[in-house]
Amino acid sequence: MNLPNINDARKRTDKKTEYIYLDKDYDKNIFNGKKYYLKTYGCQMNVHDSEEIAARLESIGFTKVEDLEKADLVILNTCAIRENAHDKLYGFLGRCKHVKTSINKDLIIAICGCMAQEENVCNFIKEKHPYVDLVFGTHNICDLEELLINKDNNKQNIEVYSCEGNVYENIKYSRDSKFKGWVNIQYGCDKFCTYCIVPYTRGKQRSRKSVDIIKEVEELVKDGYIEVTLLGQNVNAYGKDLDGELNFAELLQKVADTGIKRLRFVTSHPWDFTDDMISVIAKNDNIMPYVHLPLQSGSDRILKLMGRRYTKEEYISLFNKIKENVDNVSITTDIIVGFPNETVEDFNETLDVVNTCKFDSAFTFIYSPREGTPAAKMVDEVSLEEKEKRLYELNDLINNYSLLNNKKYLGKVVEVLVEGINEKDNSKVFGYTDTMKLVNFEGSIDLVGKLVNVEITDAKSFSLDGKIKE
Ligand code: SAH
Ligand code: SF4
Ligand code: F3S
Repeated sequence: MNLPNINDARKRTDKKTEYIYLDKDYDKNIFNGKKYYLKTYGCQMNVHDSEEIAARLESIGFTKVEDLEKADLVILNTCAIRENAHDKLYGFLGRCKHVKTSINKDLIIAICGCMAQEENVCNFIKEKHPYVDLVFGTHNICDLEELLINKDNNKQNIEVYSCEGNVYENIKYSRDSKFKGWVNIQYGCDKFCTYCIVPYTRGKQRSRKSVDIIKEVEELVKDGYIEVTLLGQNVNAYGKDLDGELNFAELLQKVADTGIKRLRFVTSHPWDFTDDMISVIAKNDNIMPYVHLPLQSGSDRILKLMGRRYTKEEYISLFNKIKENVDNVSITTDIIVGFPNETVEDFNETLDVVNTCKFDSAFTFIYSPREGTPAAKMVDEVSLEEKEKRLYELNDLINNYSLLNNKKYLGKVVEVLVEGINEKDNSKVFGYTDTMKLVNFEGSIDLVGKLVNVEITDAKSFSLDGKIKE
């Protein structure tokens, strides 16, 4: 048993990151015939961790099921970014408990991901949810096989390290897609924005070695992958924690040189965005003209309290520089409304940036206090009602600009990577443009995984409609 500890999670020492090259294989018969059900919340990092978890489970004999009631093992990969994540977890645990008491008393229930790294969550599970068999943290995924093999059926086991973390290589993934792959380039975060829990749940910033990243991308290209997305909380701070390593612009160029057809990266922090990056994006046709550039707030006062390290003017000037240099680029953002004591004037500054930048789209959130973060200690005088009002106003403005931007696509022919069948209308497929616009059009399943030219016939706030162009 290892319980998480927020003080250890907060620590940053000058200890060098360890690079561990895994080489252990397991016997596929250990859990032969057993089924796993895996549910994932949160960001792409979690989605990709789930691909690792799936591969680990399959390596010891598990196969995947989509029906919770048929499972021998259920794993919940959780997100801790906002408080409402807790409600989702406890709601889902209720369902699992029901299955365990009424259908399968041997069901193994496991929780992992960022919530597992939270002290209060682990304590609550220990005290109030004894039927949960296993909790393992983001730093403990590499021990999953051992944790299951050595499980004591009569005891709850919580294995969560609060540490800076290592880098593991030779990880196997059971990827969800055969044409679109995630590639971690860095783990953790050292920015410690005052509202954010990620630096505590994911450890310090650890860059993978560029040789290992390139090798992984080359393998994906060889396996026929069309699109690769480089993943990290601050992709453009890549290499800063590693002496003699490439910087992000150099890495991006090297990855583009592998010949992957479509290259993307998330998330960029405005503070680490360099001119070199802009020119690399601009000059490589296979680097998609799409940048997700979180703003968080347009008020300098709030940005300072958030610890974001840029001003409104700096953000806007970076935004303009990217727009001017990268042809046809689309830029999206994240915005938090109602940071403690955000005034109407502060909020208006945010609206002002939105009116200036006219983002292609934005994810907007009401600030949610996260235990252990500095902002959670701030006394907040603004009511939830007022925050909701601001959020609606912001969303209206954002949707307006999304629609205006999408309308520019009318009549144009765009290249779409088809991802799947439209769930609401099975005669249609959907996919994304280079600029990350969702497009729906008539087509059949054999288009999935292909790049096709589509003429845009209708534009909405959140998607485009089109018809295939022969
Ligand atoms: N590393 C990325 C963001 C990761 S979290 C970056 O720095 O931009 C994704 C988004 O969740 C953030 O951009 C932020 O807008 C939002 N978020 C993070 N913590 C939050 C909190 N405590 N309350 C509300 N939104 C939050
Ligand atoms: Fe969180 Fe800030 Fe790190 Fe993004 S950069 S993960 S918002 S601490
Ligand atoms: Fe959530 Fe953890 Fe990602 S808190 S947003 S799953 S890094």
